[in-house]
Amino acid sequence: MKSSDFRLQASDLRHLPIGVFDSGIGGLTVLKGLLKELPNERFIYFGDTARVPYGTKSPEAVLRYSREICRFLLKGKGSPQVKMIVAACNTASALAVPILKKELPVPLIGVVEAGAGAAARLAPQGTIAIIGTKATIKSSIYAKYLKRLAPKSKILSQACPLFVPLVEEGWLNQPVTHEIARIYLEPLTGKKPDALILGCTHYPLLKETISRIFGPNTAVIDSPTAVAQKVKDELIRLGIESKCRPQKYKTQFFVSDDPKGFERSARFFLSRPILKSVRLIRL
Ligand code: DGL
Repeated sequence: MKSSDFRLQASDLRHLPIGVFDSGIGGLTVLKGLLKELPNERFIYFGDTARVPYGTKSPEAVLRYSREICRFLLKGKGSPQVKMIVAACNTASALAVPILKKELPVPLIGVVEAGAGAAARLAPQGTIAIIGTKATIKSSIYAKYLKRLAPKSKILSQACPLFVPLVEEGWLNQPVTHEIARIYLEPLTGKKPDALILGCTHYPLLKETISRIFGPNTAVIDSPTAVAQKVKDELIRLGIESKCRPQKYKTQFFVSDDPKGFERSARFFLSRPILKSVRLIRL
């Protein structure tokens, strides 16, 4: 199926789920935002738990992994199994989405374009700071989007690699977490940014701590809210939004390793337990 055929088949696509993928469990923060904003939609979530983290991998590896996952999400016989794919992972959105967008027969939306769009609207001529994994920050992808969307803005960035393990450990409010956040963010707070993009799946869980460090004059943008709004707008624009509420399970979960571990940790990221069992898939 070519992307040009997509519009013609909008009525058939309406009932299909939306694919969401991440390097692991952090993307559940994005799924949570999507479930809230889009109560009529069904989702297929894939967490690449065998190969997490992506934030320290090379661009080639992240592209290869993301391509394999998209193939899995699209493997319906003859037609796509999903009507849209959301890259919940910032690192995959930075390194793979711009390339995969041109290859896939369905729309692919990454959290980076959504977050950059929200920041550009909030501070078109102001200072915008971005924090994320090493790979996301090294890619300069946010700066590329922002140069186009808000050419007059001033852009700052900072990698915060220890935030992911701290969140996975559940250490959201420990003194050590506050101290690490203060050290990472110090170079940015001095520049008094108007907006701060939380450019990683795990950072919304540290939003309170981070917001406190920046103070009330910095608007903190998280990917779940920004991407859910973008997905909603895009579904409506393409005429493929679902009109009826799903009966029971809204999301099917797949992982590449340790489904039980994923099920146990999911509650923390999703703020609710997973009701249907998580399936193991070898890509
Ligand atoms: N999901 C990743 C991201 O948003 C964080 C975890 C990882 O490094 O894979 O960039």
